[in-house]
Amino acid sequence: MQSLRLIGTMLILLVGFSLASAQLKSQEQRALPTQVPKHDAILVGTAWYPEQWPESRWEQDLKLMEVANIKVVRIAEFSWSRLEPLEGHYDLDWLERAVAAAAKHHIVSVLGTPTATPPAWLTQKYPEILREEPDGRRVTHGNRAHASSTSPLYREYCRKIAGEMAKRFGHNPEVAGWQIDNEYGYALMSYDDATQKKFQEWLKSKYRTLEILNALWTTAYWSETYDNWNEIPIPVGGHNPGLQLEWKRFVTDAWNDYQMNQIAVIRKYADARQFITGNLMGFFDGFDHYVITEPLTFASWDDYVGSGHLDPDFNGLAHDLTRGFKRENFWVMETQPGAVNWAGINNFLNKGEVRAMAWQAIAHGADEIGYWQWRSALNGQEQYHGTLLGADGTPVPIYKEVSQIGQEFSKAQEAFRGTTVRSQVALLYSYDSHWAIQFQKHTQKYDDIAMLKSYYRALRKLSQSVDVISAKASLDGYKLVVAPNLNVLPKDVAENLLNYVRNGGHLVLGPRSGLKDEHNELLVQRQPGYLMAALGGRVEQYYALEKDFSVSGEWGTGQASVWAEQLNALNPGTQVLMRYGKNNGWLDDQPAVISRAYGKGKITYIGTILDEKLMKTAAEWMVKESGVGPAFASVPDGIEVSVRSGPGKSAFVLINFAPESQNVDFGKRMKMLLSDRQGESVELAPYGVEVLQAP
Ligand code: GAL
Repeated sequence: MQSLRLIGTMLILLVGFSLASAQLKSQEQRALPTQVPKHDAILVGTAWYPEQWPESRWEQDLKLMEVANIKVVRIAEFSWSRLEPLEGHYDLDWLERAVAAAAKHHIVSVLGTPTATPPAWLTQKYPEILREEPDGRRVTHGNRAHASSTSPLYREYCRKIAGEMAKRFGHNPEVAGWQIDNEYGYALMSYDDATQKKFQEWLKSKYRTLEILNALWTTAYWSETYDNWNEIPIPVGGHNPGLQLEWKRFVTDAWNDYQMNQIAVIRKYADARQFITGNLMGFFDGFDHYVITEPLTFASWDDYVGSGHLDPDFNGLAHDLTRGFKRENFWVMETQPGAVNWAGINNFLNKGEVRAMAWQAIAHGADEIGYWQWRSALNGQEQYHGTLLGADGTPVPIYKEVSQIGQEFSKAQEAFRGTTVRSQVALLYSYDSHWAIQFQKHTQKYDDIAMLKSYYRALRKLSQSVDVISAKASLDGYKLVVAPNLNVLPKDVAENLLNYVRNGGHLVLGPRSGLKDEHNELLVQRQPGYLMAALGGRVEQYYALEKDFSVSGEWGTGQASVWAEQLNALNPGTQVLMRYGKNNGWLDDQPAVISRAYGKGKITYIGTILDEKLMKTAAEWMVKESGVGPAFASVPDGIEVSVRSGPGKSAFVLINFAPESQNVDFGKRMKMLLSDRQGESVELAPYGVEVLQAP
């Protein structure tokens, strides 16, 4: 009996051990979808338009790319008129030759479906596929994003061209993956009758009856009551908030269906190995990016500074937002080689800034950085845009900096293989909340993205790593979750947050939280709605501020601006951390920040917008209360430090965004991968970068 038990225990241990090691192995072997098999883990790429040049020139271009350590080309995304010069006459041979020519130079291709630019024969034959503007005018041919994404006829042509490409390239080993369309037509919609009808049908399938819709949108207000589905307009501003929010969701679904039409046909013909992505645009808010990225293998985005210079906080935040769409590494499909052509002032980034920007992307979880574009078309709308080659076909000065980036990526790439960013702190973002605030800002000064950035900046400085994720995502494992603007807070999302707190998390809410439900309807509870009981407190009244007010308490004394909520601590266990000073009478000495232990965790509500100094002390309090520590070590202001980790390894990226040289102490001996040495500190010049690994 005894020995049987012993054998049993040994068996359990053995099974347990082999399960654990199998798990470890699968973790170790988990290839990231953003890292192309058999290629470097991090890559430099460029947007190349072989269709714009004689084939005799390709070889020279590709040689120059190879010399610059460029290892990816994204091609074909605007080349429909070359791929299908006449209806049904496909010419993909040139593209196949371009892919093969690139491969000879160890350059892998990503194919863009050309659906942002339907050819003239198509728009002439079927002018009804052209978008209609809100004023009823049809857009003309000759630009891009000119087709209606909801047109079944247009989608049919998109499906055909994407299908032909997938049949030809779906098994091509030199094609790593696909990009659907280009920037999803900036989410522009056609305001034609067919789209309006679709929207009405979409509402019908969602709400089922007009009684329900009328009730949830409170259409008794201003005689908006609908007796027939076909009476419902497309909102063009100034409409009912319920209608406006549903339109945004409809736009999201429309673009999702638009991409699914192409994804389905590519998946039908292509190897599973080929990824499918779409090039997004950071905080662009035309649709809900959590929905759009759902069917994609990974997210990618186009990172442009425009006028001025890199704002490392904002850009880091946008990277982290993109990483959070799928909680997965991502690509920077496009970025500027110095300057753009579309901003107010198209200044060139400083020497070294493009390199710092590339490393910042890698540090935040990108695995490819693609420069837009290789060489300017001699004619066309973007003649002044930054490029790597001049019109004469030889390198311009930035080519050298990009070559250096490529060289450094090759050198350090192994440290990044299988690694991603994992944070103890999450910031929550919600398109519904963002839109709801945009529809009714109440004060023109309210900028929810700027607020997100102010929390991000203060928290990231301390924790050195922040995730930005959907309010609906699982919050397991985070020590601190901060939701600066969760204006739309329906019951299921509130439940997600409450569970997190019950299990020991610290949730911090900002102003305007929990005012509305998923229909953009005011909740009948006071703010923060379904979280009021757990907080043991509520908002008595909100005030748009004409001028700054003083606020003081646990976090020091400073200014509250733009928005102030008069809070009330109803539960004896609810602490008041900050109070407003003397100001409009209503807010005098009233609570501005309250906090309460709940379950195993804590909820804190901040009812106003704090100045930078107070935000800093608030963040210090938040990380201390939540047990969050720095991911690396304390570093001087202006140094951005980031960590990417994978099974058994971590890589640290240090970038100096300060205008002067700075010394960074590691507190221990580290390998410096870019300068090939070991040591305990490094001196970084402005825009200086170093990559560290444990020796
Ligand atoms: C992007 C677009 C590219 C190019 C670039 C210029 O938005 O995807 O095709 O136009 O801007 O900055």
